[in-house]
Amino acid sequence: MTILIGNNGAGSPSPGLRGLRNVVSEAEPPVLSSTEAITHTFSLVNQVGDAAVAYFYGRLFAENPELRPMFPAAMDAQRDRLFRALTRIVHSLSTPERMESYLSQLGLDHRKYGVLTEHYPAVGRALLATLCRFSGTAWTPGAEAAWAGAYERATQLMTAAADKSAEHSPPWWSAEVVGHELRSPTLAVLTLRPDEPFRYHAGQYVSIQSAQWHRVWRPFSVANAPRADGLLTFHIRAVPGGWVSSALVHHTRMGDRVNLGPPQGSMTLVAGSGGGMFCVAGGSGLAPLKALIEQAIAESQPDQRRRIRLIVGARCESELYDLPDLWRLESYYPWLHISTAVSGDPDCSGVKGMLPDVIARQLPQKDDDVYVSGPSPMVNKCMQVLRTAGLRNCRIHADPVDPPSKLTDSAGEDSIGS
Ligand SMILES: Cc1cc2nc3c(=O)[nH]c(=O)nc-3n(C[C@H](O)[C@H](O)[C@H](O)COP(=O)(O)OP(=O)(O)OC[C@H]3O[C@@H](n4cnc5c(N)ncnc54)[C@H](O)[C@@H]3O)c2cc1C
Ligand code: HEM
Repeated sequence: MTILIGNNGAGSPSPGLRGLRNVVSEAEPPVLSSTEAITHTFSLVNQVGDAAVAYFYGRLFAENPELRPMFPAAMDAQRDRLFRALTRIVHSLSTPERMESYLSQLGLDHRKYGVLTEHYPAVGRALLATLCRFSGTAWTPGAEAAWAGAYERATQLMTAAADKSAEHSPPWWSAEVVGHELRSPTLAVLTLRPDEPFRYHAGQYVSIQSAQWHRVWRPFSVANAPRADGLLTFHIRAVPGGWVSSALVHHTRMGDRVNLGPPQGSMTLVAGSGGGMFCVAGGSGLAPLKALIEQAIAESQPDQRRRIRLIVGARCESELYDLPDLWRLESYYPWLHISTAVSGDPDCSGVKGMLPDVIARQLPQKDDDVYVSGPSPMVNKCMQVLRTAGLRNCRIHADPVDPPSKLTDSAGEDSIGS
């Protein structure tokens, strides 16, 4: 199936997106396939970067002022999110199945912003106007039709998923803070009690909106397997200048309320896999791995215990914020083996070094399911080490816990792996 590309460049834009042809250039560039036209025009728009993003939102809000309140008040740092999604879509034109699941998830997640089906044409018009404005002579009728078809297909997938989820789930969940434990000056373990049942799989993450920042959502991994009492724990590290993380670590108290988006992410336990697990956690990347380990222990059969290995990395020993809990888990389940690696303190007692170097010396077994979680540079380097060691891709599951385009501009947890 060819997703997003409906008509090989020959069709007409939908009624909602018509009206842009009058600005198409008179020049006659070569005829490109739909995929080529989309990739080419997007690369041109990408070159102008922020100007295109500013134009897009300027146009969207000027023509549809009623949409402005859906977005955060200050959008400077975050306004490229939609464009980042487009980059992902354009880069994935050749893997439609992955794109389909991404857009479906995005669509149901958009319910928490208050987005409705009728809002999509306005966004589509602003998008096509932006592409037209910055593509120069590459903006041909074929390119326009290709983008219109692609946007329409994305709209169909997103709205269908949103409609389906509306049959059984609220757009967001309200939750009470029932635990707030500061484990270090910058890390808090937060426990939430959602008002309504919140169903998720161990290893998934959810968006949280703090009481302080209206309409600002950030993803955080749930750090426990689903429990009978419905409580959710999170390991939140306050990043310097971070809006939501600082609010949750430093300005949130018991009894406060936060909102939760729907569960997301596919780093879950592999169904039917009873073999060994090899888990590598950098900083607060421990959270989803702890949930997965709890789940694996809960599912483990008495006659077939799963062997589980967890390596937790930090810059210094004082940042190993969850050790007492992890030791408790290890003493309860002897098939779990936990070790630590510290990268920035030569005087520490245990294993020293960056996680990719440490796992290169202590490789998983070939049949292990490997789970890696932490800052993107660490995750990427660990994946390289594992692949070089011959581990098959399908055995490696990884979720970076920071936005890909913002990897190196903070002093956060990046140094664990880089
Ligand atoms: C799938 C996923 C799961 C995540 N799980 C967790 C989790 O369990 N625990 C947790 O603490 N965080 C987690 N994060 C990171 C979290 O979503 C936020 O990015 C982080 O808390 C910063 O948000 P903020 O609003 O405080 O900072 P912002 O106001 O968005 O940014 C402020 C500054 O911090 C930088 N920055 C943004 N994110 C990070 C980061 N992750 N590391 C270092 N610098 C950053 C920005 O570039 C900017 O300079 C996860 C992220 C993803 C994508
Ligand atoms: C094909 C169509 C669309 C795509 C691909 C898309 C993509 C995205 C992505 C990737 C994000 C960031 C999500 C995150 O970080 O969790 C986002 C955020 C958002 N989108 Fe969309 N979106 C689409 C349509 C719409 C529409 C129709 C609206 C309605 C006006 C909308 C409103 C928003 C809002 C309010 C946010 C939050 C912005 C922020 O926090 O800065 N989107 N979108």
